[in-house]
Amino acid sequence: MRIGVLTGGGDAPGLNPAIAGVVEGASRYGYEVVGLKRGWEALVVKDTGEYVVQLGPEIIREYSRLGGSRLHCSRTNPVSEGGDRTEQVIENVKKLGLDVIIAIGGDDTLGAGAALNERGVPVIGIPKTIDRDLAGTEYSLGYDTALNVICNSAEQISHSARSHQTVFFLEVMGRHAGWLALRGGEAAFADVILIPEYSFKISKLISVIGEKLGKSREMGLEHMYKLIVVAEGVHIEGEEEVRKDAKLDEFGHYSLGGVGNYLKSLLEHNFDHTRYMALAYLQRGASPSQKDRQMGRRFGNNAVDMIKDGHIGYMVALQKSRLVSVPLEEIKKSPSLIDVDKYYDRDNLNVKIERIRSGNK
Ligand code: F6P
Repeated sequence: MRIGVLTGGGDAPGLNPAIAGVVEGASRYGYEVVGLKRGWEALVVKDTGEYVVQLGPEIIREYSRLGGSRLHCSRTNPVSEGGDRTEQVIENVKKLGLDVIIAIGGDDTLGAGAALNERGVPVIGIPKTIDRDLAGTEYSLGYDTALNVICNSAEQISHSARSHQTVFFLEVMGRHAGWLALRGGEAAFADVILIPEYSFKISKLISVIGEKLGKSREMGLEHMYKLIVVAEGVHIEGEEEVRKDAKLDEFGHYSLGGVGNYLKSLLEHNFDHTRYMALAYLQRGASPSQKDRQMGRRFGNNAVDMIKDGHIGYMVALQKSRLVSVPLEEIKKSPSLIDVDKYYDRDNLNVKIERIRSGNK
């Protein structure tokens, strides 16, 4: 059995531990593993020479603790409309003698994997995205590390913000889903959390911040800073984002970033001191947290077990806190977005803290 493993889409902490987990699992059964560099790109090129690397158990220790992807990433879409390269993939898989591909990625990479699998390329998926919005799984690699970066950064920023009584806009990632903003902001005791799932009015934002500042005033200067956590994919009511000139990747996405700065520029005349910072790639660049190492290892090992059990065309997933395998097509279902009614307090533009209902035992 010869397994090809690849990492596609944006990098995320946990990819290398997952590769290590695949190699660990494979060595248990005497399977061979080769790394395919730059995601699906490795299988759509004519000359695969520089894209292929042998991965033996000697890589496990090193990969287990590294951020990013030692196999590199790309947003190559082998099945893009108008540029379908399935035939080339099939040819390369045959040429390289691969029996199965383990693709580690998000909805785009695994969606392409599902399409290829339907066309006869054996694929198994491992979920990753710091946004934690994939259908079919409660966990995707990178989320926990990114949350920790948000939490620690908010703590660091608070020292400066406290000193200057700043209204601080902290921008975090999250294109369609605001989980990073919601859960990172919750842990950081943010004053306001803005998520893509709920469009807000600028006037509302100004009044909520103003109200919170008013309430803090009697507690003294120490409390006159406000932390606003903003997901990069937020929508401002009444303002349509027009990016006609934007460069799209092969999956049709343009890069986000800067909405926190935009909000700061809109509000800087309303408050004495406003500042902005985007955490951007610091969220993806940290070395993997304990959880991302553990989950990467488990996902990797179980992907190999799935090969052994003939579960081709499936993805490793976490459901109800247990590891399961789900059909790859699940990834194409609607993303896991925040249920605003359940988790978001629209009046305060903030997280609804989960409470035990009286009577619950
Ligand atoms: O999907 C994960 C993610 O981190 C999103 O939150 C973000 O919009 C995107 O990737 C940015 O990716 P890149 O700049 O690498 O294209």
